[in-house]
Order: sequence, then C-alpha cells, then structure tokens
Amino acid sequence: MRVIIVGFGTVGRSFAQLIQLKNEWLKTRYGIIPQIVAIVDRGGAFVNEDGIRLVDALSTREKHGTVAAHDVWGLQKATALDVINEVEADILLELTPTRLPDGQPGLTHLEAAIKKSLNVVTTNKGPLAVAMPSLIELAQYQQVQIRFSGTVGGGTPILNFAKECLDGDKIESAQGILNGTTNYILTRIFEASIPIEEAIREAQQAGYAEADPTLDVSGLDTACKLVIISNWIMGRRITIKDVEVEGISRLSEREILDAKREGKAVKLLGRVDQEGSSVHPRSVSIADPLCVNGTLNSIAFKTELAGKVTLIGAGAGGRETATAIMRDLIDIKKMLLR
Ligand SMILES: NC(=O)c1ccc[n+]([C@@H]2O[C@H](COP(=O)([O-])OP(=O)(O)OC[C@H]3O[C@@H](n4cnc5c(N)ncnc54)[C@H](OP(=O)(O)O)[C@@H]3O)[C@@H](O)[C@H]2O)c1
Repeated sequence: MRVIIVGFGTVGRSFAQLIQLKNEWLKTRYGIIPQIVAIVDRGGAFVNEDGIRLVDALSTREKHGTVAAHDVWGLQKATALDVINEVEADILLELTPTRLPDGQPGLTHLEAAIKKSLNVVTTNKGPLAVAMPSLIELAQYQQVQIRFSGTVGGGTPILNFAKECLDGDKIESAQGILNGTTNYILTRIFEASIPIEEAIREAQQAGYAEADPTLDVSGLDTACKLVIISNWIMGRRITIKDVEVEGISRLSEREILDAKREGKAVKLLGRVDQEGSSVHPRSVSIADPLCVNGTLNSIAFKTELAGKVTLIGAGAGGRETATAIMRDLIDIKKMLLR
C-alpha cells in the first residue's frame, strides 16, 4: 500500500506513530504493509518513493517545523498537488484543517487524487460538508474508494456501526452530541455555574477549543458531521447549505441552570431524520443515555426494528482519530480484494 500523507499535524503525526507501533500486527493480521512514499505540510514535502523512514520524518518535523527541511528527501517548494500528481501511490490520506465555506485546500486535494485513480481516506470534514454527493459520484466513476470514518466521532466508529452493524434494519433518525468542545463548555457551565465566555476560556486552556472556536461554537462543526451522516447512512444527498444551524453563543447561563433544576442538561444536538437535518441547543434529561458530559460524544439511532441504539465514545484526539484511519485502510484493502 503506497501512501501519500497530506497534512502532518496532530492526526498525521499520530497516524505515523501508530503504524510504527502496529506495523507487524497490520502485516500478520491484515496483510497490509503501508509504505509511506510522501508527506506534505505547508512547508513543502518529504518524498522517498522507496518508502520513508517515519522516525526521520517525525524528527525532521519536530526539529525544523516542517518535513521539507530534511537534507536528503526534503522538497521545500513542492505543494500537495505536485506530490499527488507526480508521486506514484495507491492511497491519499488527506489530513489538512477543516475550512469553511469552501472546504479548501482539502477539496482540491481529494478531487485531484480521485481523478488520478487513487483511493482516498480523510479526517477532514470540510470537503465532505461542501461537496459530499459529487465526491462520492466522482469516486464511483473512477472506481476508487473514499473513506472518512474519523470525520464523525474521532475513533468511535459511529459511521461504521450505523452502516454495517445495523444492516437489515432501517435507521429512521439519528440524534446526538457530535462536538466535544461545545459539550465540554456546556458541561462546565452546568457544573460550575460560570458564564459561557469563562467556559470557552477554560476549554481553550485545556486544549479542547481552538484559539478561534467559531467552527465549534457556531454549530457548523456539528452541521458538517450531519451532512456526512445524512449522505452515508440515511442516503440523503445534502450539503451543509441544507442544514439548519444554531450554535451555543446565544445561550445564557440562566437557561442552562433553569434546565438543571428540572433534571435536564442543555446540549448541542445534531439531528437527522426524513424531514431534514438541524443543529440546535436542546434540553435532554440527565437520565437519557445520550446525555454524556465533558468532551464525550454520543449518538442515538432510532431504528424501525431494534428500537433506539446509543453509541458513546471520545469524539476526537490524535491517537483515537488515527485508529479511524487504520480502520479505513483495512476496509479499503478488503474492498480491493473483492
Ligand atoms: N485533532 C483531532 O482530534 C481531530 C479529530 C477528528 C478530525 N480531525 C480533522 O482532521 C484534520 C487534521 O486535524 P489536525 O488536528 O491534525 O490538524 P492540524 O494539527 O492543524 O494539522 C493540519 C496539517 O495540515 C497541514 N496543511 C495545512 N494546509 C496545507 C496545505 N495547503 N498543503 C499541505 N499541508 C497543509 C498543516 O501544515 P503545517 O504543519 O505546516 O501547518 C498541518 O501539518 C482536520 O480537518 C480536523 O478537523 C481532527
């Protein structure tokens, strides 16, 4: 499996560490020998078509801030598109930041790779939120696989669970807490009766919120995940423009504390059903399994036959999300063997 990695931040580096650790296991259990042939960050690329020694890439990046600084294999002027177009590979891992409203640069990277008949794995929600129906169509046309299990729930296999384990049943709706940052903020207000601004500052200090928390707080991050669930699980061809979105910024501490007195907690809930998709803060009984705290995520699938099934797990984290990439690589390998 010749792999190009575009984006060598938290997730990219965690993935590199994980495959060093699990190399032997991947080979004996799944017959997968991933050979990383190029890694790209904003500083340029590290390319070795015979296979990169990941310790070299990780240490170059740590010492110099970019993999392109390697004295033998570094290419400081190379862009992700140069590498996708010129380096021979089977799979692109697209791990650049989620950007809205255009999904770039990830969207261009994914389209270029699919057009070159590469299979693609991404943890970047942006391109899917903006163009999931057309990306899936393009991948089908090119007869390649596109996988993105790390985009929803981090390492918690929400998409795989709904797609594979609920086979034979019909999912009528999905509702859940899909953003760990806002869940942490709402949990802190609930527990400590602090204003939202202070809870956001705490989340930033704890490393759960970005310096600019807009994507999370506005509800757009949850909306991106709903687009992915709608297309992949519910068969509804939508993009982010079709999701009704309300974030948590207009919530008052008082609303949260009033709900608490009634045995409820206010949570930012994403919901998809046959009527549509929406993100809103809503009160949930604290006895409901959906009502998880801190940075946890949860999702309840309402099914026609099995009733309500709820899944809970860590929604993000480098190591956790890297396991989702492994899952996707194994899945692609299985598809290629069919
Ligand atoms: N972190 C998590 O827990 C988590 C969980 C689930 C999903 N995700 C998603 O996974 C993706 C990666 O997350 P992350 O936390 O690893 O982000 P990150 O730490 O910000 O890393 C992003 C990487 O992308 C590189 N990059 C940005 N623009 C680029 C371009 N035009 N060409 C090549 N490389 C470029 C950056 O380069 P520089 O290093 O040079 O800046 C950096 O290496 C995001 O879309 C995120 O939403 C993250």
